[in-house]
Formats: sequence, C-alpha cells, structure tokens
Amino acid sequence: MRSSGSWILLFLLATSGIARAADFIGPESCKGCHPEAYNAWQQSKHARALDSLAESQKKDARCLSCHSPDQAQQATAHITCETCHGGGQYYAPEYVMKDAELARLVGLVDPSEKMCRTCHDASSPSLRPFNFVESLKAIDHWTPERARRAPRAEVPPPKPVKK
Ligand code: HEC
Ligand code: HEC
Ligand code: HEC
Ligand code: HEC
Repeated sequence: MRSSGSWILLFLLATSGIARAADFIGPESCKGCHPEAYNAWQQSKHARALDSLAESQKKDARCLSCHSPDQAQQATAHITCETCHGGGQYYAPEYVMKDAELARLVGLVDPSEKMCRTCHDASSPSLRPFNFVESLKAIDHWTPERARRAPRAEVPPPKPVKK
C-alpha cells in the first residue's frame, strides 16, 4: 500500500507534465540520511574533480563536461551524488526514498557501467583502460550503507515481558 502522500506526489507529477529533469538539491542534502556514503564520496576524486582544472580551464565547457557537468544548469560543482543518481528534488523526501519503486519513478537512477563510460572513455587521461569492476571498488560507498541497514532487518522479535 502506498501512503496517500505518494499518490499526491504522483498526481502532481502527472498534472505538471514533468518531462524535464528534476532539480538538484546538492550533496549536503543527502548527507544527513546517508552519512557513510557522503564521507566515502568526499574522499573520492569525484568530489574534487573541478579542482584538477587550472583557473582558465574552469570556464572551459570542454573540460567541465566531465569534471563538473552540472555547474551551469544546476549550480553544483564537481561530480556529485546527483550526477550519478539523478536530481533529488522529488525522490529525496524520506517517504519516497523508502519506496524503491516510487523513488525510481520520480528520478532516482541506478548508475550503470554505460553511465561511467560517458566520462571514462578513451579521451580521458588514464594510463589504463577503464575497468568497471575495479573502479566500482574504488568508489565503494554502499557497503557501509547496506551494513547499517542489515542489522535493522534482523532485529529479533521482542521478548515476552518477564513477570
Ligand atoms: C530524509 C532522508 C533521506 C534523504 C535526504 C536522502 N535519502 Fe536516500 N534513502 C533514504 C532511505 C530511508 C532509503 C531507504 C534505504 C534505507 O533505509 O537506508 C534511501 C535509499 C537511497 C538509495 C538506495 C535506493 C534503492 O532502492 O536501492 C540511494 C541510491 C539513495 N538513497 C540516494 C540518495 C541521494 C543521492 C540523496 C540526495 C540527493 C538522498 N538519497 C537523500 C533516506 C534519504
Ligand atoms: C570525456 C571526459 C573528460 C573530459 C572532456 C576531460 N576530462 Fe580530465 N579526466 C577525466 C577522467 C575520467 C579522469 C580520471 C582518469 C583516471 O585517473 O582514470 C580525468 C583526469 C584529469 C586530470 C588528472 C587529475 C588527477 O588527479 O591526476 C586532469 C589534470 C584533467 N583530467 C584535466 C582536464 C582538462 C584540462 C580538460 C579539458 C581540456 C579535461 N580534463 C577534460 C575525464 C575527462
Ligand atoms: C560516480 C557515480 C556515483 C556518485 C558520485 C555517487 N554514487 Fe552512490 N552509487 C553509485 C553506484 C554505481 C552504486 C551502486 C553500486 C552497486 O551496488 O553496484 C551506488 C550506490 C549507492 C547507495 C546504495 C544503494 C543500495 O542499493 O544500497 C547509496 C545510498 C548511494 N549510492 C548514495 C550516494 C550518495 C549520498 C552520494 C553522494 C554523497 C553518492 N551516492 C554518490 C554511483 C555513485
Ligand atoms: C560526469 C563524469 C563522470 C562520471 C559519470 C563518472 N566519473 Fe569517475 N571520474 C571522473 C573524473 C573527471 C575523474 C577525475 C577526477 C580528478 O581527479 O580530477 C574521475 C575519477 C574516478 C576515479 C578515480 C581514479 C583515480 O585515479 O583514483 C574512479 C575510481 C572513478 N572515477 C570511477 C567511476 C565509476 C565507477 C563511475 C560510474 C559508476 C564513474 N567514475 C562515473 C568523471 C566521471
């Protein structure tokens, strides 16, 4: 059963003709609910990708397209949560996030190898060709997220109260 809030959201989306992409809300907005993922991301080069560019290159669209692709449209620098997971405007509310299906319906993206390769292609300055499996390990921010969730699912049933 969906909560009535979900139906209201779907109604609003349907009637406002959402064809455009959702707006970005920035990585700080994800931090409160996903602290482990946020910390892991912040250690990654994605979180500092704009800083690799020299001052003049920071205005060069040819470099920004991979190092800070959402800067002009969404005022978000670097490669952030939403570059990979999609704009969070509609899926970030908690009742949407808890509904995996609804979250995807309103913009949550499952990042694929194909998506990585839009930037990690032959023109990027890597010594070795892009290896999806190895690269995924290097940006792991889901193992701690899932570990945090697992014990919750296995909470033993409450013991009968002793008299
Ligand atoms: C109000 C809290 C909250 C905010 C803000 C939030 N999330 Fe979530 N997110 C959740 C909850 C709750 C889940 C469900 C899983 C769980 O219990 O940890 C979830 C699940 C997810 C999942 C896994 C979905 C699935 O079904 O596999 C991703 C990916 C995700 N969030 C990304 C983000 C991103 C990116 C942002 C910021 C744009 C964000 N979240 C903001 C609470 C939040
Ligand atoms: C097609 C996407 C793409 C474009 C366009 C692009 N880059 Fe990159 N760049 C990458 C990727 C991916 C890496 C990381 C490669 C790796 O380490 O595997 C990278 C790495 C770098 C690094 C090395 C950073 C480090 O920490 O060692 C520099 C410097 C850099 N790029 C500068 C530029 C400049 C300047 C431009 C514009 C002329 C540019 N890039 C355009 C994708 C791109
Ligand atoms: C470079 C792309 C990229 C960036 C940036 C990124 N993620 Fe992810 N994220 C992924 C991928 C890929 C997965 C799924 C990995 C797998 O299981 O195969 C994932 C998984 C997750 C999950 C776990 C989903 C689940 O099924 O349990 C959460 C939560 C999440 N990301 C949140 C975030 C947050 C919050 C940020 C920013 C602080 C962020 N991600 C930044 C690519 C990215
Ligand atoms: C929007 C473009 C973009 C996307 C999408 C993207 N990356 Fe990146 N990635 C970069 C750039 C640019 C760098 C280099 C950052 C820097 O050092 O300036 C990088 C760096 C990395 C690094 C660090 C390389 C090193 O030398 O440490 C890894 C690992 C990585 N990406 C994995 C992934 C994976 C896995 C995905 C898909 C889930 C992904 N990336 C999606 C642009 C992207």
